[in-house]
Amino acid sequence: MTENLDLFSAEPQDSKAQAATKTGIPESVLAKVAQLRAQLNQWAHEYYVQDAPTVPDGEYDRVYQQLQALEGAYPELITPDSPTQRVIGAVLDGLAPVRHAVPMLSIQTETDNEATGAIAFDQRVRKELELTEADPTVEYVAEPKFDGLAMNLRYENGVLVQATTRGDGEVGEDVTHNIRTIRQIPLRLPADQNVPPVVEVRGEVHMAKADLDRLNERQQVAGAKTFANPRNAAAGSVRQLDSKIAAQRPLSFFAYGLGQITPPEQGGPDFGTHYAMLQTLKSWGFPVAPQVCIAVGASELVAFHQRIGAERANLPYEIDGVVYKVNSLALQRQLGFKSREPRWAVAHKYPAQEMPTLMEAIDVQVGRTGKLTPVARLSPVQVGGVVVTNATLSNLFDIRKKGVRVGDMVIVRRAGDVIPEVAGRVPGVRPVYVPNFRMPKTCPICGSEVVREKGEANHRCTGGLFCAAQRKEAILHFAHRRAMDIEGLGGKLVDQLVDAQVVRVLPDLYKLGLTSLAALDRMAVKSAQNVLDALEKSKRTTLQRFLFGLGIRNVGESTAKDLAKHFGTLDAIMDASEEALLQVKDVGPVVANSIHTFFAQPHNREVVEQLRACGVNWEEGAPAEKAPQILAGLTVVLTGTLPTLGRDTAKDMLEAAGAKVSGSVSKKTSYVVAGAEAGGKLAKAEELGVPVLDEAGLLALLAGEKPVSS
Ligand code: IVH
Repeated sequence: MTENLDLFSAEPQDSKAQAATKTGIPESVLAKVAQLRAQLNQWAHEYYVQDAPTVPDGEYDRVYQQLQALEGAYPELITPDSPTQRVIGAVLDGLAPVRHAVPMLSIQTETDNEATGAIAFDQRVRKELELTEADPTVEYVAEPKFDGLAMNLRYENGVLVQATTRGDGEVGEDVTHNIRTIRQIPLRLPADQNVPPVVEVRGEVHMAKADLDRLNERQQVAGAKTFANPRNAAAGSVRQLDSKIAAQRPLSFFAYGLGQITPPEQGGPDFGTHYAMLQTLKSWGFPVAPQVCIAVGASELVAFHQRIGAERANLPYEIDGVVYKVNSLALQRQLGFKSREPRWAVAHKYPAQEMPTLMEAIDVQVGRTGKLTPVARLSPVQVGGVVVTNATLSNLFDIRKKGVRVGDMVIVRRAGDVIPEVAGRVPGVRPVYVPNFRMPKTCPICGSEVVREKGEANHRCTGGLFCAAQRKEAILHFAHRRAMDIEGLGGKLVDQLVDAQVVRVLPDLYKLGLTSLAALDRMAVKSAQNVLDALEKSKRTTLQRFLFGLGIRNVGESTAKDLAKHFGTLDAIMDASEEALLQVKDVGPVVANSIHTFFAQPHNREVVEQLRACGVNWEEGAPAEKAPQILAGLTVVLTGTLPTLGRDTAKDMLEAAGAKVSGSVSKKTSYVVAGAEAGGKLAKAEELGVPVLDEAGLLALLAGEKPVSS
């Protein structure tokens, strides 16, 4: 990487900084600022372009803050190309149109989507160049065709001065403010690399698949719109008026060409080949896709098309094909253009990502959280270069919406590296009647009952810790710090224990021996003993922790606590009816049903019994005493602020005594308890003749006395 160490010279590079000496800024400050900027640029290049950071983030932040502090003390030193100046403060009114110095052309698309398309292109090029079979093969550069947004980056005297979109090819939009936020794009080119006075670098602004996924997750959480593909995400980000928004969007860049550049006659570089030009762009700090390579003759183009096609799903970014370009710039000039498209380049796309095939069956898979996913079993079909035999059908509603049935011809779609999906049905009459798909009533893995909660699209297995599909997740949850708190029983260990079938059900954990544990990968006798000690220690627990640890759906920590408090013993909870469960604070019908269903499964009871037999124990309490329901049948409305009791406390006390607390006053209201600043409800009570109590009156009521209404 020494080549890159002098990429960004440490000398003060701009005239502004030079002039600053005259304004009395100490020479040492100038030198320091320049050194910090060079260091930060170097590190950013390693991090964002080379994907090979050499310092921890904290070190970068420390130096960044140092530079910020110096620039704060000497604002006249701030230049637009300083690493601190990537986000500008101002929000624009609109994007200004910019005429391209050199038009941004489009590229011809090869009509033959199969690998043979590469041969067709080579033949056209050879014909145009009047080459015969006796002549040598033509050398090309083969590149991925990135799925993003074309960008023109104009550098004058090594400084990024303008970034424009392609627009209609003649006139684009000025998006400099947003492009400056992309860390992969240098704000200043290295001083020691013969960068010409004017150079426009062209390439694709895009968003890596993983970045797009994360962005969409964030957008979803924020209730903002999500993006269907990287191109939309890149375009939507680059065309923002406020650069703060673009700065939060994880945009990337790949350089693939040039626009205007100082000609060789005026001292500009003479690259000779497209490949040499790309290498130079790389040395100037631009990302160039690692797949870019020289391909000699049609056969190597075909090989490239096949290789990238196979890698496509696993590439970190979306591509929609490959691009071939004649390598020699002299030959490019000779070939020239045909109706605004260069004859020396072609875009070669991949065959459709959608293919029809027969859906032979629908199976059901169980995920690690218990979700049941219908999976279409298909007659094998090539989709985008991959043989697909299974595709997801999200859930029952997805199947109904798409109207697909077993035996149908369906369209299979692959988008990037996501799991293939059944997109829909090929229209046509079904020769025979096929019943609509139904979700199984019991889990195909463990046989537990399958449920779908109100308002939920997904069906779930209620097996929880009993279900092999959910085992790992269930064990991790059981071991959680806030559940059984088994220190040292983490993801890697659980993976090994389950995969080796050492642990099938929770009680197996307590049957682990030192030898079997120590035999596992990366487990020494000492750490194995630590796990055994932690397991031993976890046996003494509380009912609340144990209940939470069982991983009953919808039973979080606080519900577990309420249940433990309300019922006192596990047996009482296991035997409680749904009605009895509904009596517990904050337990509604969905939660009550989850608990009831869980303990209705004999195997769940079995697990509980075995755990107890292994020595898991807790102190059982008495069920919470139910206060005498002296106010049963009464409906009370609370309004205003009571002098000492909070509204919630008053409500709890009333409910504990059997009263119903309501939010509105009617003829049926038994009492209105009014505190300070009571409003409409008090007036209503007076109007309807409902007795009104103050706090003292309420306390009297609760004490079983006859309250005096005010
Ligand atoms: S070269 C004169 N190379 O595809 C040739 N374009 O119409 C100019 N694209 O939107 C384009 N990857 O942004 C070239 N490796 C690549 C490319 C590429 C994607 C886009 C480009 C434009 C379209 C070409």
